[in-house]
Amino acid sequence: MKIKYPARETLANLPTPLQPLDRISETFSYPFEGPRIWVKRDDLTESAMSGNKLRKLEFIIAEAKAQGCDTLITCGGEQSNHCRATALAAAKAGLRAHVLLRAGRSTDLEASAPDGNLLVDFLAGARVSLYPLKEYLARLPDLFEEWSAHYLQRGRRALCIPTGGSDGLGIWGYIAGAEEIISDCRASGFEPEHLICATGSGGTQSGLTLGCQLLGVATQVTGYAVCDDEAYFLRKVVQDIADWKVRYPGAGGAGFVLDEDRIHVIDDYIGPGYALATESVYQSIALLAQQEGLLLDPVYTGKAFHGLLAEIKRGRYRGSKNLVFVHTGGQFGIFPQRDGFKSSWAEN
Ligand SMILES: Cc1ncc(COP(=O)(O)O)c(C=O)c1O
Repeated sequence: MKIKYPARETLANLPTPLQPLDRISETFSYPFEGPRIWVKRDDLTESAMSGNKLRKLEFIIAEAKAQGCDTLITCGGEQSNHCRATALAAAKAGLRAHVLLRAGRSTDLEASAPDGNLLVDFLAGARVSLYPLKEYLARLPDLFEEWSAHYLQRGRRALCIPTGGSDGLGIWGYIAGAEEIISDCRASGFEPEHLICATGSGGTQSGLTLGCQLLGVATQVTGYAVCDDEAYFLRKVVQDIADWKVRYPGAGGAGFVLDEDRIHVIDDYIGPGYALATESVYQSIALLAQQEGLLLDPVYTGKAFHGLLAEIKRGRYRGSKNLVFVHTGGQFGIFPQRDGFKSSWAEN
């Protein structure tokens, strides 16, 4: 099926490379009979704007411009990759960004030097509002409304982007991503049995799932959850795709019936919670860095890849030939968690 995409702002360097991880695949081939593991390098969509969020933002920013907006308001954790990518992408597109952040330790922006993504938010010129956890959770929809009204009163117009850019608009990024991955795999001579991603707000998984169904391929998409449980993400993927159907009836949404059996979530590797990693996650990140020169982060990709390796050991992918892990970026998340890696240095 030929997919009819809406308007898109060019931000990412596409297509990103698809690379085999042959040393890691070899390590897990015996006795676990793991598949050949490939990585789709969406950490290379751009340098500082890197990651999966940029694919979503290409469609979101085009929509903001079509609506005559001059400002993007979005939200996330203090170390949100999505907010950092939005701040930079807005700057590149000539828009302003306002990020509503869930505070980590303190809401006092003066008290300590910002690190990681938060530092980049400031560098990109975004307005930053930090809220204590309780207020953020209780008032997020109101905060969006209040700030939109604030800009409207000043003659400006804001587009509100939900957490992670995950809704019926943002999922276009990974409908296109799925098309690109399948085409990469075919160019390398195979049809992937599995596509794996980290799932945080659901949009990447929703886009890949929808994309694979629209393309008519049998590839199974599995999201390794990093925060909420399986039931939550099963609902979230259905909800994002339902939103897409309503918004884009003319682009395939009208007659589309989602096959819900195609939604797969594994929630066994969340560990202590969102952005909290176990020692074994840090070790898996170090293993990938040392065996493949590939950098994963402890919040998303490292947790998901750790889960994937554990599931290969448990035999889940026995009999599969090729599996593609989508590297969704997030390397700035390594630095605020530097202490977790202390026991992972190689003995050289
Ligand atoms: C680096 C990284 N990987 C994966 C994800 C998960 O993607 P999604 O929010 O679309 O589920 C995110 C964001 O949440 C992310 O920043």
